[in-house]
Amino acid sequence: MLDCDEDIAQEYYFVTPNAFTGLEHLATAVLLLNQDLRIAWLNPSAENLFKLSSKHVTGMPLKQVFGDAETLPKAVESALLTNASFTEHEIMLSTPGNHTLSVSCTVTPVEIGEIRLILEFHQIDKQLKIAREERMLVQQQANRELLRNLAHEIKNPLGGLRGAAQLLEHELPRTGLREYTQVIIQEADRLQKLMDRLLTPSHLPHLRATNIHEVLERVRSLTLAETPRGIRIRRDYDTSLPELIADPEQLIQAVLNIVRNAVQSMQGKGEIILRTRIARQVTLAKKRYRKAIQLQIIDNGPGIPDEIREKIFYPLVSGREGGSGMGLTLAQALINQHQGTIECDSRPGHTCFTLLLPLTNNEGVHK
Ligand SMILES: Nc1ncnc2c1ncn2[C@@H]1O[C@H](COP(=O)(O)OP(=O)(O)O)[C@@H](O)[C@H]1O
Ligand SMILES: [Mg+2]
Repeated sequence: MLDCDEDIAQEYYFVTPNAFTGLEHLATAVLLLNQDLRIAWLNPSAENLFKLSSKHVTGMPLKQVFGDAETLPKAVESALLTNASFTEHEIMLSTPGNHTLSVSCTVTPVEIGEIRLILEFHQIDKQLKIAREERMLVQQQANRELLRNLAHEIKNPLGGLRGAAQLLEHELPRTGLREYTQVIIQEADRLQKLMDRLLTPSHLPHLRATNIHEVLERVRSLTLAETPRGIRIRRDYDTSLPELIADPEQLIQAVLNIVRNAVQSMQGKGEIILRTRIARQVTLAKKRYRKAIQLQIIDNGPGIPDEIREKIFYPLVSGREGGSGMGLTLAQALINQHQGTIECDSRPGHTCFTLLLPLTNNEGVHK
């Protein structure tokens, strides 16, 4: 017997998918609706995609199942109104199990027995993510080039300015006037340092077989030494991970920058988790790898401020007083040098930086 109230069960029990048997085998997620927009049937692909059991949702109104999504009922209305097939791209759907999915949906009006509408769903999260990553990669490269050129252009005249101020200082008739030349020299030095930071990392990585957990243990002890007692750093390691070929010093620097940000955001109290896992079949910078190391740095601090969330990897973007805004830019450059990627997902109480570092066939050395 169906798992819904008696009336509904009576009404829908006889809607068998016999006429739709072929749909059971489709890879596309299909959902059938009745005249009053209740779910008559869904195929196994739809059960899979939405993590729903056909038994539980048959007979339920569509709106009840995908509660807060406005766009889906609208697509359904449009199809009914025009009596023609209607496709809505990019709908965010929350399922009862709290899964959020990005899908495109085609609604086709039909009249087959009780069935009035066929809904086909395609998950677009994956395609969107790849397109976004490719766009980001191009943009990052352009940004980096622009900054590099700008920094070079500023450094040269800056050297001249500083030198001239020094010469002038020797010629000054009164030592009291040195106060002014000192301002020029100090400010020139400050700018010089900033430009140097923009130009890093200039040296190539020194590659060797590296155990990711040794990297993390170094970061952990360095951080704990400079961190208030209220902050815990928990390890969640997959110790079976193979070694990777990398520059351990560069990895330490990259992870340290991320962990430091987490510590600074938490104001003395909270937990950071360092998690390692194996990731399979990943595409990084357009190249496909059979295996990669996935490293996550998770904190339960307040999250990244909304205003800067989309641009934290850009140089000079900082959300804190006295910040240089270079920490994540540098971390990203270092990880990119290892053909890896960094992504960030943040909301209050949960910020997660995910690093993927590829293990190529001849590079993944099993211990
Ligand atoms: N785990 C985190 N929690 C909250 N905010 C963060 C976190 N990581 C980074 N941020 C934000 O991103 C900004 C940029 O970080 P970063 O590039 O390291 O520069 P800086 O630390 O010098 O400000 C930080 O100032 C902070 O506002
Ligand atoms: Mg920082």
